[in-house]
Amino acid sequence: MTTLPPTLELRAITKRFGHVAALRDVHLSAYAGQILAVVGDNGAGKSSLIRTISGVYRPDEGTVRVEGEDQNFANPAAARAAGVATVFQDLALVEVLDVATNMFIGQYPRRGPFVRRRAMERQTRAFLDELGVSVASVRTEIGMLSGGQRQIVAIARAMRTGGRIVLLDEPTAALGVRETAQAADMIRTLRDRGNTVIIVSHDMSLVFDLADRIQVMRLGRVAGVRERTRTTRDEIIGLITGAVTGDEAPADGASTTP
Ligand SMILES: Nc1ncnc2c1ncn2[C@@H]1O[C@H](COP(=O)(O)OP(=O)(O)O)[C@@H](O)[C@H]1O
Ligand SMILES: [Mg+2]
Repeated sequence: MTTLPPTLELRAITKRFGHVAALRDVHLSAYAGQILAVVGDNGAGKSSLIRTISGVYRPDEGTVRVEGEDQNFANPAAARAAGVATVFQDLALVEVLDVATNMFIGQYPRRGPFVRRRAMERQTRAFLDELGVSVASVRTEIGMLSGGQRQIVAIARAMRTGGRIVLLDEPTAALGVRETAQAADMIRTLRDRGNTVIIVSHDMSLVFDLADRIQVMRLGRVAGVRERTRTTRDEIIGLITGAVTGDEAPADGASTTP
């Protein structure tokens, strides 16, 4: 499909919480200008995977390689500095601050000690307009927005911060039909601008609509990776539930598919 090396590569990642292995020997490759969907049942390890890439968790074993360099992110700010932007499942917008402030959080435009409030509002408005995002006022507090509008703002923020690698954990879980379509357009825009996009989603319609490749997680392991045009919903759902045998042999040595 591509001859370029992956922009993001995980090798043999294991992450344990006490006796629970949230991730076991997980490999992943993601490429610029492509959308990789990560799917799996609840507890399969999807969020742990996103948090490990984005510097929230440190892996117990294995390596995270970004644009050819091994990384050991101490925190999400370190990941962001290396070009990895994340929209977490629980959003992390500040409810009592307005839209413009949230868009620029931690990176306010300044003149000397002063935040350039007007510039921030103007740039936020221009950016949201460019994306076709309808928010009545950039001075609206985030807490006053619908779940869908918040999610759109969170995706817009990840786009604004210029992450070359964008991770989205269940970005449409709380959205209605129209908002989901808007989020899907934004995610396509990210891909078309050459970003590397990883999206975690339960929504098979969205996954088959957006993804170039689909990685299925099951019980902390990789059950399979498929190109979207060479698989079916039935196969993906089978890999999620275990009805279709995964590619990597489980510890008990059961057979694998070729
Ligand atoms: N911070 C944590 N502490 C303890 N266990 C965790 C933590 N995060 C995830 N887990 C466990 O790891 C497994 C995978 O969870 P998670 O990555 O959230 O899965 P998913 O996002 O696919 O639903 C689950 O068994 C979950 O209970
Ligand atoms: Mg999750």
